[in-house]
Amino acid sequence: VECLNLRDFAIRPACVQDADAIVDILKALGQYRRLSALQPEEAIARIRRRLRPYSRGVSPSAHVAHDSAGTVVGYVTVHWLAYLFMPGPEGYVSELFVHPGVAGHGIGSRLLEEVIVEAKARSCTRLSLLNMRDRESYKRGFYAKRGWQERADAANWIYPL
Ligand SMILES: CC(C)(COP(=O)(O)OP(=O)(O)OC[C@H]1O[C@@H](n2cnc3c(N)ncnc32)[C@H](O)[C@@H]1OP(=O)(O)O)[C@@H](O)C(=O)NCCC(=O)NCCS
Repeated sequence: VECLNLRDFAIRPACVQDADAIVDILKALGQYRRLSALQPEEAIARIRRRLRPYSRGVSPSAHVAHDSAGTVVGYVTVHWLAYLFMPGPEGYVSELFVHPGVAGHGIGSRLLEEVIVEAKARSCTRLSLLNMRDRESYKRGFYAKRGWQERADAANWIYPL
């Protein structure tokens, strides 16, 4: 990714036109073999379709980070979950990805800060996310250093389909 103006990066709500950049980010991270197996235009069309509800800003929501030339270099998505038993909703951070070419420039932190601002505006009780322990971000304590608390007492379950 050509990105020379990182000091001036900014955050804005995502729109469907960001699909191309999001595909680039996911491919560059190399963790999405199923997406990479698609033709580029199919992958973009799929993300565009999926982005539609996100761009309405209710739930889920998505923000992108871009440099001063408008190049999108990272994004975050949040699903806002209402519970009956909790005082306020929970924001589930479902995706946080920064292009590997610009990792370590504060973009991921800035996207997370945006989520916290939005969560407070929505009167949320808490945020949550899943971070695999073999990920670089976990090993480097990315979330722990930013005030997130690991729930040692909770088991995370999936039911594969
Ligand atoms: C984790 C991630 C979102 C951080 O964004 P970033 O813009 O690189 O992070 P910032 O510059 O704001 O903060 C720097 C911190 O990010 C982490 N980080 C930096 N480069 C990283 C990399 N290549 N991979 C993973 N984490 C990295 C470290 O914790 C670093 O702090 P440290 O230097 O004290 O170790 C980003 O690197 C990324 O998308 N990684 C790959 C995908 C991923 O693991 N996403 C999280 C899914 S839950």
